[in-house]
Amino acid sequence: MSGNPTSREQSFLVTGGVRLAGEISVTGAKNSVLKLMAVALMAEGRTTLTNCPNISDVPAMADVLRHLGCTVEISGDTVVIDTPAEVGHVADDKAAQRLRASVCILGPLVGRQHRAVLAMPGGDAIGSRPLDMHQRGLTTLGATTRMDHGRLVAEARDLRGARYALTFPSVGATETFVTAAVLAKGTSVLENAAREPEIVDICDLLSQMGAVISGAGSSTITIEGVDQLRPVSHRVIGDRIVAATWAMGAAMTRGDVTVTGIDPMFIHVVLEKLHAVGAVVDTGTDWIRVAQTERPRASNIRTLPFPGFPTDLQPMAIAMASVSDGLSVVTENIFESRFRFVEEMVRMGADAETDGHHAKIRGKERLDSATVWASDIRAGAGLVLAGMCADRVTEVCQIFHIDRGYPHFVENIRSLGGVIERVDT
Ligand code: EPZ
Repeated sequence: MSGNPTSREQSFLVTGGVRLAGEISVTGAKNSVLKLMAVALMAEGRTTLTNCPNISDVPAMADVLRHLGCTVEISGDTVVIDTPAEVGHVADDKAAQRLRASVCILGPLVGRQHRAVLAMPGGDAIGSRPLDMHQRGLTTLGATTRMDHGRLVAEARDLRGARYALTFPSVGATETFVTAAVLAKGTSVLENAAREPEIVDICDLLSQMGAVISGAGSSTITIEGVDQLRPVSHRVIGDRIVAATWAMGAAMTRGDVTVTGIDPMFIHVVLEKLHAVGAVVDTGTDWIRVAQTERPRASNIRTLPFPGFPTDLQPMAIAMASVSDGLSVVTENIFESRFRFVEEMVRMGADAETDGHHAKIRGKERLDSATVWASDIRAGAGLVLAGMCADRVTEVCQIFHIDRGYPHFVENIRSLGGVIERVDT
């Protein structure tokens, strides 16, 4: 598994003017595996997760679990978690701070231990990312939450089933409520729930462990509380954001890419958009193929909760618009400061400007290579794709972000004919 500290001092050199072509497979979803690892806290014994991605967030999450008393073995694409009868409830600050997704231990710990103490993850490059909806869900079930010296403290004498309606279909708040409610007494109903495939994957694992959940993937999830859960083995679903990154790369570089290991329904709206910009799109049960011969047509995109266009593909949408034929408007509806990416694209000569949560991009035939900085995982991947559409060699710095979400990034790009090098900065 990557995550060696040196990637903090590395960059990618990306050669422009390439066409991505060939077949590539995706492994498990980052935004599922991290939560599945946290769910292992809820059952004493051995949980085995397969098809896990080789990304730096996985060992970081393993560290969070080890500090709570678990034993975690990672080998190849398999993560084995041994959870003791008694797990801790205070997360290690440093381990938690390293990984924003550590917030996903909140629901499992409150559900099983009736208490959890977690350093507030704080905001990041894409937004302030408060936890108010997580906290409201827990208090609805009978817990109390408070801040104590920069840590969120959640405690419950008892957890009782309840009805909770989210003001926004937050992925994280849905996960926190569901994982806490599965061990509560009685029936809980979550309305306006997030419908992402990763939510369904987590509910599938919980159901295998003995939880009683219905409606996962819809806006209303019903949970019948049970007394305890048992550990099981589970295969992580394919990573739809990584699969769609390669698909959009094919369209941008006028290439022809087949991606296997992904359910096309997970990225239906993205494939529709690629069809609209002129790509030939083909799908099978667990694969997609995207081929583009002409310059992509301009297209307007609005990010929305699933099944809408994912916000995690917004940087790729802007990168694609920057080489498309015509004017595109990309609207960001999920994270308030996810347009930092546009500044880096302008460095590469993109004709782009932002106006509130809209970005207007007038496409060009070719971008200018430049030295640019990744501010988060997806912005990093978007800059590498943009670099493939530039005139010379682009240097993408701060690539540790990319290592957090894209397994075997260099090998995968080279297998599709891309020219990329990892260098010490
Ligand atoms: C998950 O973040 C993903 N992260 C994100 O992917 C993804 O962008 C996001 O869902 C939306 O799809 C992981 O799964 C680890 P939210 P999460 O709660 O759960 C606001 C990537 O690149 N909100 O659905 O944090 C929040 O600020 C990452 O892989 C509150 O206001 O997202 C945001 O504006 C980036 N209060 C919106 O809701 C709350 O209590 C959606 O957030 C919770 C959220």
